[in-house]
Amino acid sequence: MLRYTFSLSLLASYILSTHAATVFFKQDEFIGTSFLDHFEWETFDDPTHGRVNYVDRDTALQHNLSFATTNKFVMRADSWSIVPPGARGRDSIRISSRSAYDEAVFVLDLSHMPTGCATWPAFWTLSAAGPWPTGGEIDIIEGVNLGNQNLASLHTLPNCAVLQNRSQTGTTISTDCDAQANSNQGCDCDLTAQAQSTSAPSFGSPFNDGGGGFYAMSKTRGGGIAVWFWPRNSRSVPVEILNGGATVVPSVSWGTPAAYFPLGDNCPYDGHFDAHKMVFDLTFCGDWAGSVWSTSGCGVGTCEDYVNNNPHAFEDAYWEVNSLRIYTPVTGGW
Ligand SMILES: *[C@@H]1O[C@H](CO)[C@@H](O)[C@H](O)[C@H]1NC(C)=O
Ligand SMILES: *[C@@H]1O[C@H](CO)[C@@H](O)[C@H](O)[C@H]1NC(C)=O
Repeated sequence: MLRYTFSLSLLASYILSTHAATVFFKQDEFIGTSFLDHFEWETFDDPTHGRVNYVDRDTALQHNLSFATTNKFVMRADSWSIVPPGARGRDSIRISSRSAYDEAVFVLDLSHMPTGCATWPAFWTLSAAGPWPTGGEIDIIEGVNLGNQNLASLHTLPNCAVLQNRSQTGTTISTDCDAQANSNQGCDCDLTAQAQSTSAPSFGSPFNDGGGGFYAMSKTRGGGIAVWFWPRNSRSVPVEILNGGATVVPSVSWGTPAAYFPLGDNCPYDGHFDAHKMVFDLTFCGDWAGSVWSTSGCGVGTCEDYVNNNPHAFEDAYWEVNSLRIYTPVTGGW
């Protein structure tokens, strides 16, 4: 009996190590109104010091800052109000998933991202247990102001670094993922080079002009962290992504990632990463968009005054999501 149990567990680890590492099964799918029940509208002061007032879900729905149909989900900034100097900031949205995922593949079909002067949108994942940076942060989409540059990055506890040369189409910017190093730059990868080589903008107005596209991120013990991007009309979008299939097999059909952060002795997964929530936010100015404001080409005056006094400048400051699917290595009860 003991022997039988032993070989069964060997068989289990064999199956897990040879197959589950590459085949991922659809665990959750968020489309349209399902975002309203499965995400939390966070209302705290922006930890990145933006000129923003994050509103709760009911306020967001009432003012049409959040809008959902059966197949679309929109999150936007207020683009009609003057913001008094004494107010917390311009109304906007920060939402975070109620579920958290350890090893997983996240696939986002996005038709529009927020753009414009003072904006700092991000789609990212964050340890549910925390506190930050314990458990890690993975930025999938992030950029500021009028930039067309998307940076994918990791922010972690100390003793996490990646090599300069990696198997990716993007360009390594920095290699130390430790949030305490280099003023929390993290280790990051610029997707612009990839975008230029395929005439496929991964960020900003050009991304929106092309109808948006697909972002995917894989986070596993064995495979590390990888980010892929395909513009909407690219012929290389994997069929399993176009179809929202029941399974995805990134290592077989997705090609070289745009950004790749291999983990191992240089940065063990366990100790640096755990189950992550997904976050969408849209802030203004603050630690990044505000600090580069003077070179952003957005005009004179302060970023904060711009946000306060130019509501119509925020008409393109919205996310429009078609779907968000999460795949995990095992569905349970195999
Ligand atoms: C709310 O926002 C949606 C999405 O942008 C838009 O289609 C709709 O017309 C807006 N509704 C109102 C009442 O403004
Ligand atoms: C990175 O790759 C380039 C091109 O293959 C090579 O010239 C360079 O020496 C490599 N750098 C390191 C640190 O391995």
